[in-house]
Amino acid sequence: PADVIALPFSDEQQTVHLGASRVGEKALEAGEVAVFVVAGGQATRLGVDVPKGTLKITPVKHKSIFRHHAEKVLALSRRYGRPIPFYIMTSESNDAPTRQFFEKNDYFGLKPDNVFFFQQEMMPALDFDGKLVLDAKDHIFTSPNGHGGSIFSLKRSGALDDMKRRGIRYIFYFQVDNVLIKIADPIFLGFHIQEQAEMSAKVTPKRDPEEKVGVICRAGGKTKVIEYSDLLDEQRYATNPDGSIRFSAGNIAIHIFNTDFVERLNAQQHSLPFHIAEKAIPYLTPEGKLVRPRKKNGLKFEMFVFDALCQAKNTVIMEVDRNEEFAPVKNAEGEDSPHTARDLMVRLHTKWLIDSGAVVPLDAEGKVTGPIEISPLFALDANEVKRKLPLGYEVKPPLYLGP
Ligand code: UD1
Repeated sequence: PADVIALPFSDEQQTVHLGASRVGEKALEAGEVAVFVVAGGQATRLGVDVPKGTLKITPVKHKSIFRHHAEKVLALSRRYGRPIPFYIMTSESNDAPTRQFFEKNDYFGLKPDNVFFFQQEMMPALDFDGKLVLDAKDHIFTSPNGHGGSIFSLKRSGALDDMKRRGIRYIFYFQVDNVLIKIADPIFLGFHIQEQAEMSAKVTPKRDPEEKVGVICRAGGKTKVIEYSDLLDEQRYATNPDGSIRFSAGNIAIHIFNTDFVERLNAQQHSLPFHIAEKAIPYLTPEGKLVRPRKKNGLKFEMFVFDALCQAKNTVIMEVDRNEEFAPVKNAEGEDSPHTARDLMVRLHTKWLIDSGAVVPLDAEGKVTGPIEISPLFALDANEVKRKLPLGYEVKPPLYLGP
């Protein structure tokens, strides 16, 4: 298992976290932090053909995932007194609709100058005989080269140079599908800076041994993520003497990496490996008919951003409370769906209201009796809610607290 900065319980740990937070805030005030979201995936599991970020997600106002993220960036820019630039990685298939969505919505209040879109690269696939696949008479099938491709597309697209021109040193990275993301968390930034880390990661304890998240471990003296599909059963089910899961540091795909580190990975050849996945790949028959097979018929190649961790000189792995920071939208129904993400948003906002002394009507299970939503432009955390609401504020759902 990797060394992990645990959640703070004692007063002493709280003080250490507070100290880190101050360091992170300073970096934000100095304009050294950029926000970067990867949104180039094809949302195959969700079964939609629009960019995932355009899905309506918030419980009361039904705002899109992109608006929800953008409002956080705007609120943070106001809090720290300077614009925080927002970089968005798309891919060939969803670049145009993503840009149009931002334009149509006036960039959700952000200045277009501070929003930078770029496309990741595509990669050809192979059939099981090792041949390239045609999906049109004049076109070879390609698919996005994985979020690890972002390390190289940041450079090739000019985004990295743009960051450097702005004096950015730290890139806060997250995946578009996590609607509870605590963007540019100053505590995480602070630990990263204090430890002089080049790349860091947030983790949550795994829900159960079978949960589909990669695990952060130490291997050969390096910090690494072992993807859920690569973990051996003896590791997956291994326990500590107290019965808890031994390899439990679940990767929730939230990172910080330094601009200099990205520069270095670009200067080296083949600095990230390709992973192979068996997938169903559309192909042309010899008669020229396009077939979309249900069964896996070939191999796709993807790079994973977390493979860069083992090349970083120092890393910080920080544990967070999953209920406060992780609600991914991966499937149309069931686990990790829009439904569970919305529930988690309501739960978190209920907690903020209760913590700030509001009177919240709860049912027998302790859930608020109707939908509630707090816009990031109203408050980014419980402390801000407390500052803004009168003591004993009575919540009557549906409730929306907006700017
Ligand atoms: C991913 C992680 C897993 C982690 C989990 C947390 C991988 C391989 N695994 O799993 O370790 O625990 O998230 O939620 O990533 N994307 C691109 N371009 C691509 C491919 C993906 O931008 O070429 C983006 C997607 O838009 C999405 C994110 O990367 O925002 C995650 O991709 P996804 O395929 O959903 O990864 P998971 O298998 O869910």
